[in-house]
This record gives sequence, structure tokens and C-alpha cells, in this order.
Amino acid sequence: MEKVESVWLNEELVPLAQAAVSVNDRGLLYGDGFFETLRAEAGRPHFLREHLERLTASAQAFRLSFPEDLPWEKRLAELLAANGLDQGLAAVKILLTRGVAKDLGLPQGASPTLVIWARPYVPPNPAEYAAGWPVVVFPESRSTMVGRHKSLNYLFYLAARQYALDRGAREAVILEADGSVSEGAATSLVYARAGRYHTPQAGSALPGVTIAVLGRALARRGLSLEAVPTTIARMQEAEGIWVANSLMGLMPVSSWDGRPVALAPETTQYLQDCLAAEALL
Ligand SMILES: Cc1ncc(COP(=O)(O)O)c(C=O)c1O
Repeated sequence: MEKVESVWLNEELVPLAQAAVSVNDRGLLYGDGFFETLRAEAGRPHFLREHLERLTASAQAFRLSFPEDLPWEKRLAELLAANGLDQGLAAVKILLTRGVAKDLGLPQGASPTLVIWARPYVPPNPAEYAAGWPVVVFPESRSTMVGRHKSLNYLFYLAARQYALDRGAREAVILEADGSVSEGAATSLVYARAGRYHTPQAGSALPGVTIAVLGRALARRGLSLEAVPTTIARMQEAEGIWVANSLMGLMPVSSWDGRPVALAPETTQYLQDCLAAEALL
């Protein structure tokens, strides 16, 4: 018999089919909420503290009451076990909305909606990591304070990713309004230049957990991941480029707008090992 998928809806672990949210929920009406996507391995979520810190910071910035004192680890463990995901790889998604409240603006006091899913995650296969991803630059730039938060207003990023897919690429590069490089549609960017590691410094990019963890890992090894203002021309001088997020880790970039980018397999392996080591701490 097929296993029934369970999700947390607020205080209850329920079968997916029973997890109903009001059509007046502001997450649906306005994208008024935030989410986090985590990787879990053998029932253990990676970098849960960092993801919850980002969610808390976003909730505070937008006056959304956040249920901080939840037994997060216990809830995730129960959810993963309920879905048969205490072995193998899983994607955990935590979603928080302001719930139902009439006023425009950011009304406080509404009771938030919290949903947590856990589903099997199939990562790209080793051949794909070895070959890398082609990326293309999305022509519409984006500069907004919302970009610094993992908000439910994801349409821009979906359109950017589709733009890339339509061109045979796997990820879209997002630019800031001044034309500088910001991030990927669902990834942060990392590049090597003159033997050093960098990530674009960008006012509207999401502070990625993966690159924060990578920076920490490199610092332990006497290296650094420095955020620097980055033009497209600068990227073209890179000795390697990677896109990174919590689910897939680091994926090398094989081409940028059709121009080949050097693959640096030893460096990719080194950076992936650095990340993997942090997840075990
Ligand atoms: C726009 C954007 N930038 C960067 C990232 C990478 O963030 P993280 O490393 O926290 O998963 C994501 C993750 O999905 C994202 O949506």
C-alpha cells in the first residue's frame, strides 16, 4: 500500500489531503510570507539553525509573528519518520505566512500559518555534477528589499528559471538594477579568481545558507569567501564558477551565455568536501 504523505499544519501532523488553508490566507493573496528549503540526510536536517535564523530575521523585518519556541528538531524528526525519510535524502520545506488578516500593510496579531513538508530528494547525478550547468543572464534586472528574504513572492525567479530552461540552460543569473551580478534564480554564485574565492556583493540577493556555511568552512582552512561587487566582465575572468543552494550543494557552471567556463574538478571536489564536512559537525 502506498504510504500517505504527512505534513505539519500549525500544531498538527496530518495527512497531506487534510492540510487545508483558508483561501483568505495572505500567503495566497499577497505572497505575504517566507519559506526555507533544507536538505536532510538519514533523518537529520542540515543547517537547521541557520535556516531558522534567516526565517526569524525575515519574519521580524516584516512584523510577522514567528513561533520561535517550537521543538523544531522533534517536529522535523517526526515528520521525516512519518514519511519514511529517516533514511536517504529528503527536502524539507518550512513555510510561514501571516495567516488571515484584512488590513493592507503588515498587520500584527494575525495568527500565522506554518506548514512543513518532507519529501524524497533526488540530487543531480554524478555525471551532471561533472559536466556542470550552462547558465544564462536573465535580461530583467531586480532590485528590491524583498530579494534579501526568501519570500513567497517567487514569480520573478520562476520566470528567470524558465527563461534559462527555454534556452537550454539550467539556471538564470539575476542582475541588480545597476547591471552588477547578483545571484542565481534559486542559487547563490561562487567564483574563483586569481586563486581566491568570491561571491557577488549585491544589495538584493538572498543571504544564502550554503555560501555562509562554505565561507565558514573555508575560514577554518585559512581561506576565505569574500563578497565583492561583481560585473559580468569580472565573471568572464573567473577561473571557475559555481551555483549553490541547500538542496544540491555546489554545482559547477559549464557555460555563461554560451561562452564556455573552465571546469575545475579538483576545486569543485574540494569545495563540496568543505560543505560536507560542515554538515557533519
Ligand atoms: C534566490 C535564491 N538565491 C539563493 C539561494 C540559495 O540559498 P540557500 O543556500 O540558503 O539554499 C536560493 C535558494 O533556493 C534562492 O532561492
